[in-house]
Amino acid sequence: MPTLLAIESSCDDTSAAVVRDGTVLSNVTAAQAIHVEYGGVVPEYASRAHQRNITPTVAVALRRAGVTEQDIEGVAFTRGPGLIGSLMVGVSFAKAFALARGIPLIEVDHMQAHVLAHFAEPPYPDFPFLCLTVSGGHTQLVVVHSALEQEIIGRTIDDAAGEAFDKSGKLLGLPYPAGPEIDRLARRGTPVLTFAQPDPGGLDFSFSGLKTSILYTLQKKAREQPDYVAGNLADICASVQQAIIDTLLGKLIAAAEQTELTQIALAGGVSANSALRQRLEKEGRQRGWTTFVPRLEYCTDNAAMIGVMATFKHAQRLFAEHTVAPAARLGK
Ligand code: KG4
Ligand code: ZN
Repeated sequence: MPTLLAIESSCDDTSAAVVRDGTVLSNVTAAQAIHVEYGGVVPEYASRAHQRNITPTVAVALRRAGVTEQDIEGVAFTRGPGLIGSLMVGVSFAKAFALARGIPLIEVDHMQAHVLAHFAEPPYPDFPFLCLTVSGGHTQLVVVHSALEQEIIGRTIDDAAGEAFDKSGKLLGLPYPAGPEIDRLARRGTPVLTFAQPDPGGLDFSFSGLKTSILYTLQKKAREQPDYVAGNLADICASVQQAIIDTLLGKLIAAAEQTELTQIALAGGVSANSALRQRLEKEGRQRGWTTFVPRLEYCTDNAAMIGVMATFKHAQRLFAEHTVAPAARLGK
């Protein structure tokens, strides 16, 4: 029954969790407000904020879990993918903690951990299942044969789905990250606009053409009606959101047909999107799928998912050496 401390610092959130035998005892995340001012994550500021936040975040995670440092039997950390300076803070903290306490170190792949967020609490999917992982940096269709055997069968060839939300929002003058804001505004709108989206074929995604199409569409509308964007923000957001969701669902349905899997899961920050969650449920009902969507806390970046993945690795005694280094990209 290992009690693990888990650290996640791949991007702009510092998160720490305590997971005991796969059960999440605490999950504490310190967000970084500084990036809003710049309309995106500034890597150097992110790593400095991680340095400031990591010790207090871990202290709160231990306290909320009702454990002390002496109770911790292993330390898990995100090795990558992510911002190298941000990852470095988490990796260094984890190494120091493990060394000081003489306990094992467990490295975790951030994208695989997003998938295993489904095991943070029941109901759990059975293996194998199909997972659409949609975050700020990645868009992947994954056949999850087992916790540690994850096969990527489709991916984006350019922008990620979260990036498509964030860049579209930037065009509309929305604050970073724009995903949650588009979600909120779209609830009051109707998807009246359609945008051209290239299809790279197969199970791969492409989102970089979408922002160009949005830009040209809005420029054309503004020539006819100068206050078009301000006066139609909710409809524009609903249209952008629908375009992204249509692409995601189209490929997910194709992947489900191809693999003949009927347990379908969503993971990553964009799976917090309310319209995407509803659409998955609707398609799932029509197609006889059993669908799984994590609670919001486990969709966006969090250390609980790192601790859950580390529990699977701990069971197989897959420990990292102290020479382990962070990796901005992991070899997949
Ligand atoms: O997984 P995540 O927290 O961090 C990465 O690993 O990238 O994902 C962050 C992304 C951002 O692009 C953000 O805009 C998007 O998830 N996001 C959303 C929503 N909440 C977060 N996108 C659409 N609707 C949401 N409600
Ligand atoms: Zn993530």
